[in-house]
Amino acid sequence: MCYNLLVAIMKNSKKSIIKALETIIETQAGTADKVQKVLMVGAEVAPYATVGGFSYVLSYLSKELVRLGHDVRLFMPRFGFIDQEKYNIEMVYEGLKVPTDNIEIPYLICNVKSAVSPSGVTVYFLENNEYYEKRANVYSYSDDSIRWALLSRGALEFIKTGIFVPDVIHSNDWHTGIVSNYLKTSYAKEPLLSDIATVFTIHNLSIQGYMLDHNNVSELDFDDGRSAIADFFSDRIKKQNFMRRGILYSDVVNTVSKGYAKEVLTPEYGESLDRLLLEVKEKFFGIVNGIDYEEFNPKTDKLLFQNYDKSTLEKRSMNKLALQEEFDLPVNQDIPVFGFVGRLDFQKGVDLIVRTFGHVLKDYNVQFVQVGGGDSGLASMLKELKDTFPLNVGIHPYPNFTLPRKLFAGCDCIMYPSRFEPCGVVQLEAMRYGAAPLVRNVGGLKETVENFDSLTGEGTGFVFNDFDEFSLYGQLVRVVELLKNKGLWRRLQLNAMSQDFSWTFSAKEYVKLYELSEKFRTKTLVTRNPLYN
Ligand code: GLC
Repeated sequence: MCYNLLVAIMKNSKKSIIKALETIIETQAGTADKVQKVLMVGAEVAPYATVGGFSYVLSYLSKELVRLGHDVRLFMPRFGFIDQEKYNIEMVYEGLKVPTDNIEIPYLICNVKSAVSPSGVTVYFLENNEYYEKRANVYSYSDDSIRWALLSRGALEFIKTGIFVPDVIHSNDWHTGIVSNYLKTSYAKEPLLSDIATVFTIHNLSIQGYMLDHNNVSELDFDDGRSAIADFFSDRIKKQNFMRRGILYSDVVNTVSKGYAKEVLTPEYGESLDRLLLEVKEKFFGIVNGIDYEEFNPKTDKLLFQNYDKSTLEKRSMNKLALQEEFDLPVNQDIPVFGFVGRLDFQKGVDLIVRTFGHVLKDYNVQFVQVGGGDSGLASMLKELKDTFPLNVGIHPYPNFTLPRKLFAGCDCIMYPSRFEPCGVVQLEAMRYGAAPLVRNVGGLKETVENFDSLTGEGTGFVFNDFDEFSLYGQLVRVVELLKNKGLWRRLQLNAMSQDFSWTFSAKEYVKLYELSEKFRTKTLVTRNPLYN
């Protein structure tokens, strides 16, 4: 807390100073939770490296936890593309030796640098020339197992320096799944580490972090997670399932919505880990993600053509016209505009959107705009759709930081027809900006969007069940028809904009998880888990 006050004073931010003082008073009065010291470890953190929603979760969740008075710090690689000058990144520990368990190259030498993020959170960067600096991308290298083992073990070696010793290490997705594995085995007797509890968050169970197809792995290659972590340079480490190990060894495990937490217990969504998750159900939870309400605010968002809020919603229409112009489409308020924002990924159902619009655009004069890069096959499908319907389709199949907000503010409806969706952030952002989300009834989408009922006027979007063109087509027609009833449409928009998916609620849920992990740690250590003998 005092640390937050210090940061606020250094940044000369009146607002932050007041917040920090309020938190100190709250804590003194005994109304706040116990201060948690947490090291959150992950592959990407916004704004330094962002591939997907994951990076924003780490950034905003840590920000909110710090705002609540907890001492939460981040640990990530310093990729070569992270601008050190721009972010004031400075050296805190030179020459950190990270053991590899390999005889010929027994350790890799790293540095740890640090900065205070734009949102006031301390971030530690693990620096290594070969594995991070030289790489242009965050993911998808053949030696990813080494790169993430280095980050996981690097975090523990960093804690050993005593610079920051947390109560809890919070690791995320397969990349850092083995932090708890190392901690409970090779590092179990390290004096500074022996009391640390672990929380592991699954953002996406379908990527388990090894070179094999986890749903079709041979008996010989199957990793039950109980053997020692192999040496960094062996072929064996590439066959070790870091996701499974994160689930096995962490004191508490969660995923990013209650809906997905239930689904992954079934073979349909469990990615061959459903049985393990059922076994450890006692320590497995779901906490929905949020969005940052300061950053995502149509009233103040500088990227918008025209700002608005619930009381000035009529102004929103200017953004629709600006969007149509930006994508070179006929500028006409009465044409419904549908949008898709997000990675071009099989998971997200982009192929279903393209197939369905192939039919819809023959029957209806609607527009479809898209922004986001990824899979080249999906990008070509989009290009083909654009070539067939040039006056109805606008595409930008590349990553972009400003266009998404313009879509949220200008589209009537944002589609999110995922095959599966651990949480999803786009539907929350869409609602905040008054665009109706059209989502499939899965995971976090199911949990955050309520199907609109024209009779009662309740609901925040459109929800469909089956992953096929008929179901999506049906909902698209519903949107077109409802748009004709201006009163009901306004009601739907206001319902969506009145939702509160700010991080405050979920951050408090994470605090409970941290507390629980500390309780479970002692319990599991002594009695429960045969792994800790
Ligand atoms: C992954 C999931 C997405 C989730 C995000 C952040 O990208 O696919 O559903 O919102 O992680 O947790």
